[in-house]
Amino acid sequence: MSKKTDTAVFVEPAQGLEGDVAVPGDKSISHRALLLGALADGRSEIRGFGSSADTLSTASVLRQLGVEVRIDGEVAIVEGVGVRGLKPSTDQLDCGNAGTLLRLIAGVLAGQDGTFDLIGDESLSRRPVERVVAPLRLMGAQITSTDGCAPVTVVGGALSAVSYEPPVASAQVKSSVLLAGLLTQNGPTEVREPRPTRDHTERMLAAAGARVAFGPGRAAVWPATSLQPLAFEIPGDFSSAAPLLAAGVLMSGSRVRVHGVGVNPTRTGFLSVLERMGARMSIFNRRSVAGEPVADIEVSSSELTATAIGASEVPLLIDELPLFALVAAVARGESTVWGAEELRVKESDRITAVTNALRAVGVRIEPRPDGFSVRGVPTRPRGGRVESAGDHRIAMIGALAGLLSRGGVEVEGADWVTVSYPGFFDVLDSLRI
Ligand code: S3P
Repeated sequence: MSKKTDTAVFVEPAQGLEGDVAVPGDKSISHRALLLGALADGRSEIRGFGSSADTLSTASVLRQLGVEVRIDGEVAIVEGVGVRGLKPSTDQLDCGNAGTLLRLIAGVLAGQDGTFDLIGDESLSRRPVERVVAPLRLMGAQITSTDGCAPVTVVGGALSAVSYEPPVASAQVKSSVLLAGLLTQNGPTEVREPRPTRDHTERMLAAAGARVAFGPGRAAVWPATSLQPLAFEIPGDFSSAAPLLAAGVLMSGSRVRVHGVGVNPTRTGFLSVLERMGARMSIFNRRSVAGEPVADIEVSSSELTATAIGASEVPLLIDELPLFALVAAVARGESTVWGAEELRVKESDRITAVTNALRAVGVRIEPRPDGFSVRGVPTRPRGGRVESAGDHRIAMIGALAGLLSRGGVEVEGADWVTVSYPGFFDVLDSLRI
């Protein structure tokens, strides 16, 4: 059992995991559904909404901007105000821990009338925002950051289309530019990425009736005077399913099935990696919901061998790379990740945070400027005390390390899981054999 004491949780070792679960609605898609619902003409009804601290930040910022947003369990109702209908607020708009909100809404606000001040929590205030400020300025926006980070001030106005090649492969940058592109006087606005990233914004713009063209690594959007309201069900979050699937693969005698998970190929790089390491899995009940592929995924315990992940694969499993480090720790041989310097500017410096977390439980991991290498040993790690570093994904890895360990793991700052998956610890407990 997992025992909670303040924000520390002690996770005891498990024999194995068994069961069928569903995970909360995709966080990336939930943010986008609220934002596009706000810009639509009329009422959007979104089912399968993933309520978490991050997506609730988006709801509350939109409310401050004059949009009525009601969230009742997994249903979100948004009363859209039209593409240029957001109202300035005299208060600062608090994006909390949510990088996706800060970067995407900057693009939306650049084309509205008024002045908007965006702030974030301590972690978000350390993360780079110049990556969206620069292209939005090219489009004519008046936007300033504070030494390259939040607070950010946007003075909305007329925008013109650009053709932009971001220096980093970032779906947040691409999405910010595309959302501003909707609000330009001319068009199309194009983004050409160094490597393909998740394409949820493009798919949802199409669902809202915007004119959009996209393929791997490129996207274009034309100006819109109106968007249609959204009515769909958000698929389960692959990034929330991934730790459960990984645990099922790593623990002997396990079988875990996650139902209704988004399997957009720009998100499922972790499945390809698990497969080439030797994981036993099946993907079935494939279907399409609101332009997003969805499936059920079942895994069972498997012996794994080491693998290497390079720059071109990184965006397809960017949020699962810390989890990969844990998987690599019990795979036979030495695994490496390179070309992943973006990990340094996530909710924590994830190269440092995962190195500290895994070393604390007895794993041999070496950090590098752009990744890490892990010496895998197919046996249970010792256990110990893991510091979440204020990062939901590191807290989850600490918990999995506890299940897998010989002696259990004390996860400090375990409450951070609420940023993306409030019920995470309960679901883990429900799967114990
Ligand atoms: C996200 C994109 C990714 C990812 C983040 C969510 C999104 O960031 O790490 O958790 O919703 O667009 P970058 O695209 O900036 O790498």
